[in-house]
Amino acid sequence: MTSRPTILLTGAGGQLGVELAVLLRPHADVIAADRARLDLADADAIVAAVRGARPQLIVNAAAYTAVDLAEKDAALAHAVNGRAPGILAEEARRIGAVLVHYSTDYVFDGVRTTPYPEDAAANPLNVYGASKLEGERAIAAVGGNALTLRTSWVYGLSGKNFLLTIRRLAGERDELRVVADQIGVPNWSRALAEATARIVSAGMASLADRSGLYHLSSTGAASWCEFAQAIVGDVARPRVIPIPASEYPTPARRPAYGVLATRRFEEVFGFALPHWRLALQRCLAEPAAPPARWPRSPG
Ligand SMILES: NC(=O)c1ccc[n+]([C@@H]2O[C@H](COP(=O)([O-])OP(=O)(O)OC[C@H]3O[C@@H](n4cnc5c(N)ncnc54)[C@H](OP(=O)(O)O)[C@@H]3O)[C@@H](O)[C@H]2O)c1
Repeated sequence: MTSRPTILLTGAGGQLGVELAVLLRPHADVIAADRARLDLADADAIVAAVRGARPQLIVNAAAYTAVDLAEKDAALAHAVNGRAPGILAEEARRIGAVLVHYSTDYVFDGVRTTPYPEDAAANPLNVYGASKLEGERAIAAVGGNALTLRTSWVYGLSGKNFLLTIRRLAGERDELRVVADQIGVPNWSRALAEATARIVSAGMASLADRSGLYHLSSTGAASWCEFAQAIVGDVARPRVIPIPASEYPTPARRPAYGVLATRRFEEVFGFALPHWRLALQRCLAEPAAPPARWPRSPG
């Protein structure tokens, strides 16, 4: 008889973490650690948490995701996104565990006009992207059993994200001016968590055998403006007006194009995520989320 595996889930209070905490439970005993329970900026705390829990799988859903704030807070972004994943990977290797980690399309500079494969050259434009790339490389350098899943434009019904911002503004304004010259793929946190749970359900040996770097994303592509229009729906008010990114300056530069090619994931795991419009429809059909269990600071 095989015993139920233990999963240590970090970032359990985030958009993806909240969904994972629910969806991984049928497959394992989940130790769900939010930032208060495990601060990834604290290297000693990471080591102690892994050695204390002795999980068969670590799922790292924690990250410093405030892309604009990271420009001024580079040391913390690099500690959480760059160094911590390497420590998790090292500790996982020490106890024979697998690591599942998430990364971002912002490792790319966005000069391509066709979807990025995993082995395309990374060239981040901002501190967040550079810190996430450092994390990917730290995991690869350890050489243990680890899957790094890059995704993009994550949204959900809790936390802080584009969908919730557009919904709020739609109730306040007659007109929304939204960037139309940055192209990517919106990804519902639920769909990402479902995909993760599905690959975890195949068992630890199967996961370990499939170690590597993957793009995990819905299909299709959209500008922020098209995404906003799809959120608002077919209504007369508010009107969604396309603007160039140059009219919406932000502290961090963002890639103009970040569509991820997902063929490797599909071939290795045998399934694809739904088109982003379908995932959005499913998300919008959900009942409103309860208040966030972990209050989030603005930024
Ligand atoms: N959000 C996106 O658009 C996006 C796009 C591409 C890739 N990704 C990647 O997808 C993964 C999941 O992101 P998400 O969208 O779920 O982000 P999120 O909602 O911001 O969640 C990240 C979680 O990490 C926690 N965290 C931050 N600093 C921490 C620290 N020092 N120690 C422990 N936990 C810490 C946050 O806690 P607090 O709430 O307390 O800060 C938050 O709960 C990340 O790897 C992210 O880089 C996200």
